[in-house]
Amino acid sequence: MNILYEVLFEMKLQGPSGDLVYAALLGSGLACSDIVEESGKSQRKISIFFQQAVAARRLLKTFKAFGLKGVNIKMRVHRRTDWETRWKEDWKPFALTQKIHVIPLFLKNAKCPRGKTPFYLDTTAAFGTGLHETTRFSAQLIEQLQGCFQTFLDVGTGSGILAGVARISGARYVEAFDIDAGAVKVARKNLEVNGLPCDVLKACDVQKYHGKHRFDLVVANLITHDLVAFQGKIISCVQPGGHLIISGISLKNMPLVRKHYNALVGLKCLKVLKGKEWSAFLFQRGS
Ligand SMILES: C[S@@+](CC[C@H](N)C(=O)[O-])C[C@H]1O[C@@H](n2cnc3c(N)ncnc32)[C@H](O)[C@@H]1O
Repeated sequence: MNILYEVLFEMKLQGPSGDLVYAALLGSGLACSDIVEESGKSQRKISIFFQQAVAARRLLKTFKAFGLKGVNIKMRVHRRTDWETRWKEDWKPFALTQKIHVIPLFLKNAKCPRGKTPFYLDTTAAFGTGLHETTRFSAQLIEQLQGCFQTFLDVGTGSGILAGVARISGARYVEAFDIDAGAVKVARKNLEVNGLPCDVLKACDVQKYHGKHRFDLVVANLITHDLVAFQGKIISCVQPGGHLIISGISLKNMPLVRKHYNALVGLKCLKVLKGKEWSAFLFQRGS
């Protein structure tokens, strides 16, 4: 297939339109990993790529019919040869945390700064390139907890990047799952390339997850709706005295998440990371 069809949504960085579009896209049956986000100084862009023009046109028509205020929607056509090389130009190795440097797999011969640990990543597929605030915050918190955990659970692993960070930060036992079987495949490859395989890595919906263990550290980078809806399940995976990181919370949704999680007896909020658009919370479960 030589052509890719992009449906592009452009809106102001601040304001509810971006979250509305995101939620509506998920509601239309797309997975998080199909949604590509980019934030500039004042603008937020959300793109969906299709191989079939008819599918792109269908999405464009549906969303234009919604008449979303403040959202500019258009379709762009990319010749695949251009697209395949152009996106690579924008990719450079970058610092994910203080200690870990992400290096795209296609640049695997790139130099990693001295004293840093490289994490090689297939940046073409599942969510979790490390550039998104929600991933970066989670990775930074995991690294800061180094020494406090031996067992780790990654809920919604995407590219597997956080499971990798946990391994690098000393986890001895790592479990990860994702509702999207495609993401699990990508995660497996990413973790194997880095010599950091998971003990358990599978396709699973958090709703249906029945783990055999409780974990010293659990990370869930999910949409706010799921963090709230599956709160009981997520917390039940945390060992008493263990830590929980939740991420994927837009600044607008912070009060809602605080209300639900702070109301829980035995869960103490230790830290909140707040960025331009997103936030992450670190909790400790009482022993
Ligand atoms: C925002 S991405 C996070 C990916 C990665 N952990 C990171 O931090 O970059 C959310 C991931 O959770 C997965 N997901 C969404 N709903 C889920 C569910 N109900 N159960 C399990 N995984 C889910 C998505 O497929 C996606 O890969």
